[in-house]
Amino acid sequence: MQQFERADVEEIFEVADRMRPFTGRERITRVLEGAILSNMFFEPSTRTRVSFGSAFNLLGGNVRETTGIESSSIVKGESMHDFARVLSGYSDVIVIRHPESGSADEFASASQVPVINGGDGANEHPSQALLDLYTIRKELESQDKSVDDFRIALIGDLANGRAVHSLLKLLTLFKRVTVQLASPEGLDAPPDLIEQLRVTGASVSEFHDLREGIQHVDILYVTRVQEERFPTQDEANYYRGLFRLNQEIYSQYCESNTVIMHPLPRDSRAQSQELDEDLDSNPNLAIFRQTQNGVLIRMALFALIFDVVNDVERYAKPLRWRTPRNRQSS
Ligand code: CP
Repeated sequence: MQQFERADVEEIFEVADRMRPFTGRERITRVLEGAILSNMFFEPSTRTRVSFGSAFNLLGGNVRETTGIESSSIVKGESMHDFARVLSGYSDVIVIRHPESGSADEFASASQVPVINGGDGANEHPSQALLDLYTIRKELESQDKSVDDFRIALIGDLANGRAVHSLLKLLTLFKRVTVQLASPEGLDAPPDLIEQLRVTGASVSEFHDLREGIQHVDILYVTRVQEERFPTQDEANYYRGLFRLNQEIYSQYCESNTVIMHPLPRDSRAQSQELDEDLDSNPNLAIFRQTQNGVLIRMALFALIFDVVNDVERYAKPLRWRTPRNRQSS
């Protein structure tokens, strides 16, 4: 995330806005015709994998996918260096998700084409943070508020949540942000990330009580217990279900227009339910607007990487087909 300055983020958001006619199926473009994305996902994924693929397809490019480490030659002992050298000979851009922290960086240092980190262990998930902040901006703007003066509570497993780590780094680029960190004891946000925020002028406070941590904020950002990062299942089970946000708690402790976000997947199993489905009819629940914004942000990243931002529109065509979705919007 630290590769980005504020101006870069603003540019990505501006390009993302311009991609809306394409995600809305009002227009099509083939501007990346002939280009190949290798989507390498060595951990489970729905949103990141499919939205990166859809974004590339919507720009006219082709997508090659590998899912599961067992179907790659990494299991035969191939090094990250060799893997990256080979893959970059077959591709024009690569997205990689891998269980080890630092793996995307290691891969990128050997790759001969651009690499996007789709999540490296518990470390970072930068494209998620970009789409989260884009969503925060859109939601705040709809309430006449600004990203330079807003209040956010991050809730849940702040120790292991890579989306949280990237978002905290991204927030250092914005002014006068109030950050409330609410986690069960033992799942606290990394101290170095808290320090980085404080150095840049953010007001940061920590809570070990859900009800205290969610008060007086514009945005609630809920996360699940990242059970795949714990040494044992018993340890993960200890934390599951400790922090649960539902409509009753929201009504009692939150402001009436507080926006609810979650990077998803939410854990809807009975013993977890960090974000109860009884919130699904709450108009402030932004989780599916968030996932839609993921395609816009990922299209913007590709358009900028391939330097085709203006060509996307210049070579756009009207769509010839109709489905119930674009029939409604046209
Ligand atoms: N938010 C997110 O990274 O979801 P996936 O794991 O489904 O890609």
